[in-house]
Amino acid sequence: MTVLIVGATSAIAHQTARLFAAEGAALALAARNPDKLAAAAADLRARGAEAVHELAYDALDDDAHQRVVTEATALLGGIDAALVAHGVLPPAETVHTDADAALQSFTVNATSVIAVMTHLANTMEQQGHGTLAVISSVAGDRGRPSNYVYGAAKAAVTAFASGLRARLHGTGVEVVTIKPGPVDTPMIVGVHEPGLLAADPEGVGARIHRAMRRGEGVVYTPGYWRPVMAAVRSIPDRLFKRLDW
Ligand SMILES: NC(=O)c1ccc[n+]([C@@H]2O[C@H](COP(=O)([O-])OP(=O)(O)OC[C@H]3O[C@@H](n4cnc5c(N)ncnc54)[C@H](OP(=O)(O)O)[C@@H]3O)[C@@H](O)[C@H]2O)c1
Repeated sequence: MTVLIVGATSAIAHQTARLFAAEGAALALAARNPDKLAAAAADLRARGAEAVHELAYDALDDDAHQRVVTEATALLGGIDAALVAHGVLPPAETVHTDADAALQSFTVNATSVIAVMTHLANTMEQQGHGTLAVISSVAGDRGRPSNYVYGAAKAAVTAFASGLRARLHGTGVEVVTIKPGPVDTPMIVGVHEPGLLAADPEGVGARIHRAMRRGEGVVYTPGYWRPVMAAVRSIPDRLFKRLDW
């Protein structure tokens, strides 16, 4: 099996990559920080990956999206599965008042994701098979006062993946949307108190691996977030706007 992971230094994605490595998959890892990428690659080689290729990828570079898919396809001889995992959660004080910062975070969290998924979808459709997974978030289900810029980007990714999944139905390409609740990773340090509601990256990474293996559609992880978010979406606006969270 060949797997491309975009944003491969993500704590969550690395846990998923470990499970593919243990199955002897050939991996292409794309990330922006070469030192962190080399460390992740060494760990995955030690865990049994058949091959591990390291690719440079910066989501803010418009040329990177096509390039990373072309390079991975050539190195792996085709892409059986891909996980798009990169993202940022800048402080609310910054993105709520600084339009440039808001747009930059939107580029990383949404437009770059749409670009790289479009290239991946084209490649997989041509191959006639593939599993294309993306990490969105429960934050995309409803904009909250504390993180609506991030939530808006994740809502865009969720809607994009929903339409892509339907368009590619019957082509052999499965599109998997992962919606984690808070996970205890570097992303939420200082933003969200790790506690009762923050899941561990190992469990979330394993759930993503299972969802990709099965070609599931929309996965909330942990699973209790599905009913929780159904309840959150049903709160009337006149009450919702009074909540401070
Ligand atoms: N942690 C949570 O509570 C949570 C909840 C729901 C969804 N998610 C989503 O899960 C995914 C993975 O996040 P994580 O929790 O594993 O956090 P993480 O460990 O901080 O990973 C974030 C990743 O995004 C990469 N990244 C950031 N900006 C980039 C850019 N311009 N170009 C390329 N890569 C860039 C980071 O690269 P560097 O290593 O170079 O910084 C890192 O690999 C994200 O999409 C996030 O939105 C997380």
